[in-house]
Amino acid sequence: MKPFVPQSLPLDEVAWEPLIPLIGKANWQLAEYQGVLTTLPNPELLLAPFTTQEAVLSSRIEGTQATLGEVLKFEAGQEPASEARQQDIREIINYRRALREAEEALRDRPFNLNLLLRLHSTLLDSVRGRNKARGSFRTEQNWIGAPGSTIEQAQFVPPAPGQSLLNALYNWESYYHMERPDALVQLAIIHAQFEILHPFLDGNGRLGRILIPIFLYEKHLLSQPVFYLSEYLEKNRERYVEQLRMLGSTEGAWNLWIQFFLGGLIEQAQANVSKARKIHELYEGLKQRILTLTHSQYAVPLLDNMFQQPIFRSSHLAGKTNMPSRPMVWNMIGKLKKAGILKTVAEGRGPHAEVLTLAQLVNLCEGNDVI
Ligand SMILES: Nc1ncnc2c1ncn2[C@@H]1O[C@H](COP(=O)(O)OP(=O)(O)OP(=O)(O)O)[C@@H](O)[C@H]1O
Ligand SMILES: [Mg+2]
Repeated sequence: MKPFVPQSLPLDEVAWEPLIPLIGKANWQLAEYQGVLTTLPNPELLLAPFTTQEAVLSSRIEGTQATLGEVLKFEAGQEPASEARQQDIREIINYRRALREAEEALRDRPFNLNLLLRLHSTLLDSVRGRNKARGSFRTEQNWIGAPGSTIEQAQFVPPAPGQSLLNALYNWESYYHMERPDALVQLAIIHAQFEILHPFLDGNGRLGRILIPIFLYEKHLLSQPVFYLSEYLEKNRERYVEQLRMLGSTEGAWNLWIQFFLGGLIEQAQANVSKARKIHELYEGLKQRILTLTHSQYAVPLLDNMFQQPIFRSSHLAGKTNMPSRPMVWNMIGKLKKAGILKTVAEGRGPHAEVLTLAQLVNLCEGNDVI
């Protein structure tokens, strides 16, 4: 199989007419989600668990198995079940770091290939990332296929390394910054072309998915770079990969890909609207309950800390600068446990304080009752 020769962007083969209804709906749903974002009192805080869940699901497409609960428990200081799980968790935390790093970087300058290299370096900052040319574009030929397959058996052979790959990346970067008839169709093409170029030895899928919220934010479609597609892509993983595969081999496949992607934006925007609303309701409801239970000026900072880290050690919470004395914190925690707001994940042992969770929040983000 020969290395693929990518098309130059913008594509001239998009058939717009059949896409129009989907384009309208996707833009409308995204605007609805943006509307919800503007009603959140503290979006960064309330959406923080979304970001961790995105990191979990996007990494799951790659094959990691750790859950949101496991990541949060690890961050609270609990040992993972196995060495492999620990690696999974580390990759997930790297993914979240890369998302945040992108967000920070965009405050200073627009997206560019240099930032992409930095994000790659962050993403693969772990043992599994060794020998994978962290932070640089590949200089070897790679291919996509069943594990262990040879290049002859490959399903897809991305473009050959070297100057033509670099030129294709420059073309891709300049397309990213173009004004196109519809930004969401542009985003569908940006993601797929990135996967076709497959510029890295590993991490292409995850980086391509990190680009989604970044692009929406940079194009001012969202006020926060918090919109994730991995839940949809993970659920429809076979179709996701199949539609990408077809781009390398089938006439008319771009339109099918764009339809699949826009369908995902619509479905995910709906899901995110409902999740963001539920998180907001949970926050407001808990605020009232905790105020009534504790009659404390620390009720809201306590709640905010728990939203920031929904699984935590009580000693860690008591050590925060915005918290009162330890006895007062223990007292408030006791009341929250009694009221069923906090649950014990692990009893305290020796020098280690008990691990607690705001279970409702974790369950809401996971989409089912895991704790
Ligand atoms: N036939 C194909 N053509 C183009 N892109 C593909 C094809 N099959 C899969 N992909 C993309 O390649 C990604 C896998 O590439 P790679 O292993 O470098 O990325 P990753 O981030 O490590 O893994 P993953 O995407 O599985 O999480 C898939 O997620 C998908 O986005
Ligand atoms: Mg991989």
